[in-house]
Amino acid sequence: MTRSSAPGKVYLFGEHAVVYGEPAVPCAIERRARVAVERRDDGHLRVNAEDLSLNGFTVEYGATADGRPDVDVPESLVTAATQYVDGAIEQVREVTGADEAGFDVTIESDIPLGAGLGSSAAVVVAAIDAATRELGVTLEPAELADRAYRTESQVQDGQASRADTFCSATGGAVRVEGEDCRSLEAPDLPIVIGFDGGAGDTGQLVAGVRALREEYDFAADTVEAIGDIVRNGEDALAEGDVEEIGRLMDFNHGLLSALGVSSRSLDTMVWAARDAGAHGAKLTGAGGGGCIVALDPTEETETALSFTPGCEDTFRAELAEEGVQRLE
Ligand code: MEV
Repeated sequence: MTRSSAPGKVYLFGEHAVVYGEPAVPCAIERRARVAVERRDDGHLRVNAEDLSLNGFTVEYGATADGRPDVDVPESLVTAATQYVDGAIEQVREVTGADEAGFDVTIESDIPLGAGLGSSAAVVVAAIDAATRELGVTLEPAELADRAYRTESQVQDGQASRADTFCSATGGAVRVEGEDCRSLEAPDLPIVIGFDGGAGDTGQLVAGVRALREEYDFAADTVEAIGDIVRNGEDALAEGDVEEIGRLMDFNHGLLSALGVSSRSLDTMVWAARDAGAHGAKLTGAGGGGCIVALDPTEETETALSFTPGCEDTFRAELAEEGVQRLE
């Protein structure tokens, strides 16, 4: 058996706009997906994902793309878990040349699914790393990130950036613009997360922004303006100016909201954080529901969020310096 883990992330700036070639700055956090992989002789794939922080379930299905799971769970959950793992194993077979390899894959994660903290990227990165190593092949982080990106892109109908997967593979704060992915120096950031207990559908949300951008020039301008915020944000990060980073996060949230990807609960949590004195707050990831990220060195934001209607969980997140971890 081979085991790997990979971290989730928050977006400091730039989600959605990054899909259209603008830069984005995600930052890995110490919440991880852990994947254990064992080779099977029959070429089949068995996925056991009982702890994905959302209605535990176990799925067993065949090795082909048509193999339907014989379980009674919501389609969206089956789709989320199995498509990403299917895609990851396809990449493993391709990169190792082991076309017929089958696996038992067990996933445990403390990253809520579809909530803007990069759960799918973390699962895919850890699954590809563990399964390739199970076959005796160790990928460099850049190759691992690329294979994970291809998986996400395939599952999301070609509408994915490299940001989530690169950040999860390498850890730390990163800057992604198109195919250019690099690590960034970042100050110690007082990151607080608020989680509404829900999730958004990344594919649908990305498609919604795409449609707006095609219909209205001002929506396309909004996407470009997010790119400008990211560029300013990079300077603020380099200067370690946490107050300015927060101000730009507030701005970024406003533009994401204009693009229709916020929700009442996300807006409520963002305002609760601001009222509590956070330097800034914004939704993170695709939106529609899930998590916000705020910057506050004091306890005030966490306390305020814990009393905010619609906020199910709040916690402080440490920067994950390390991306994929190869476990014993
Ligand atoms: C989703 O975590 C982030 C998006 O920008 C999509 C992507 O970058 O692939 C909405």
